Amino acid sequence: MALWGGRFSSGPAESVSALSRSVDFDWVLAPYDVRVNIAHLHGLVESGVIDAEDGAKIEQALRTLASDITAGKFSFNDTDEDVHSAVERGLIERVGNLGGAIRAGRSRNDLVVTDFKLYLIDHLLEVSTLLTQLVAVLSVQASKHASSIAPGFTHLQHAQPIVFGHELAKHAQGLLRDIDRISDWLERNSFSPLGAGALAGSGLQPHPESAAQELGFIGVMPNSIDATSDRDFVAEALFDLAMVGVHLSRLGEEFTLWSTSEFGWVTVADAFSTGSSIMPQKKNPDIAELARGKSGRLIGNLTAIMVVLKGLPFAYNRDLQEDKEPVFDSVQTLLVLLPALIGMIETAKFHPEKMLQGATAGFSLATEIADFLARKGVPFATAHEAAGACVKLCESKSIELHELGDADFAAIHPALTPDVKGVLTAQGAVDSRTSSLGTSVESVSQQISIIDSENSLAQMWITAESKRFSEMMNA
Ligand code: ARG
Repeated sequence: MALWGGRFSSGPAESVSALSRSVDFDWVLAPYDVRVNIAHLHGLVESGVIDAEDGAKIEQALRTLASDITAGKFSFNDTDEDVHSAVERGLIERVGNLGGAIRAGRSRNDLVVTDFKLYLIDHLLEVSTLLTQLVAVLSVQASKHASSIAPGFTHLQHAQPIVFGHELAKHAQGLLRDIDRISDWLERNSFSPLGAGALAGSGLQPHPESAAQELGFIGVMPNSIDATSDRDFVAEALFDLAMVGVHLSRLGEEFTLWSTSEFGWVTVADAFSTGSSIMPQKKNPDIAELARGKSGRLIGNLTAIMVVLKGLPFAYNRDLQEDKEPVFDSVQTLLVLLPALIGMIETAKFHPEKMLQGATAGFSLATEIADFLARKGVPFATAHEAAGACVKLCESKSIELHELGDADFAAIHPALTPDVKGVLTAQGAVDSRTSSLGTSVESVSQQISIIDSENSLAQMWITAESKRFSEMMNA
């Protein structure tokens, strides 16, 4: 149904309808659109623009429409331009021309932003719930491996031994920050644009505060022009989701690498792997690879909105219709990807014996020699030189550091006394790193319990917010 036409002598050309039409993708906003219309209606009744009796009829029709939409009994048709036109048609079909009264004092320009904000609140909470589940499975696996020793890498070269739980827990840290960013988004974006009208506010809706409150917002945005043109909340949400994507891509990359036969650190469960159509022996880590690959579209979606907004004149411009598909795509991508990743990690079998084999490869205990000397008061630069000389000697003799003789050590530096061998074990190296952020078994166990308590706090606020949101939607 067209919401305009009085001043036109013909309807739009078919090519224009095809270009302009957004209902095929913005229909997902329908439940929010009906809810916003109910709150707006209450304002119109309060201000006397619609009398109480008509108001009750319209509200009844909107509520029937809401359940018909949920039950799949009402949907958009070929004549609807966007979700707002479809919802208004549904309303008029249920209550007659009286339904058209709802359009007083609001425009699609403030309606669409309000609907979209509600959609984002709802779906960012859903994404956050999945993120807490991912943190939880990472934490369980990290505790199982809080004392499994593995090589740690910098530049993808053996660097220093670490415990594998530390390696897994680092992913939980990034994801907890993602959840925190979403919480921050919810706080900053809890102001309602409804009441801005086309761009200047409305004389028919003098108290937008009550609609804002009914919809669960803290208050009303202070400037009607900003309210209709602000899409910072969209760009920020897309950044938050892209950052999640980047974190998942790095996690995916590690699982892909760890599951190679060269590494052999992890076996991904059959249910979370795929095969090859030509090579019968193949078992591929496609979930991890998709986690890596999906970040491309998440970053692309963020870029798309930034480019749409750059240099855009203020108040509503039709360019702004381009804000929705990137968001729907990023949200859907994560809602599909996260459950698969959670399952993959939950069921993965790690192989600590394989990790341990490589823990001291590449002279990764050289730092222990330097630290041993530094503890004895040797300036670190000198200690570093001496440890480097030990590595050089080992390389020339094709032996490992612990295989050097007492005389070899003493010749390199007099402070390299025979007890240096005591620090030349992976366990010793790990055990010495007892500071709060370090890789000792004790530090890592403590880190995991902090992750668990932060995660359960997050689960608590997400549950409370989700409950509040669904109560508002169903009120
Ligand atoms: N479908 C439009 C959008 O998503 C709704 C707002 C249209 N407003 C207008 N004045 N044409 O942005």
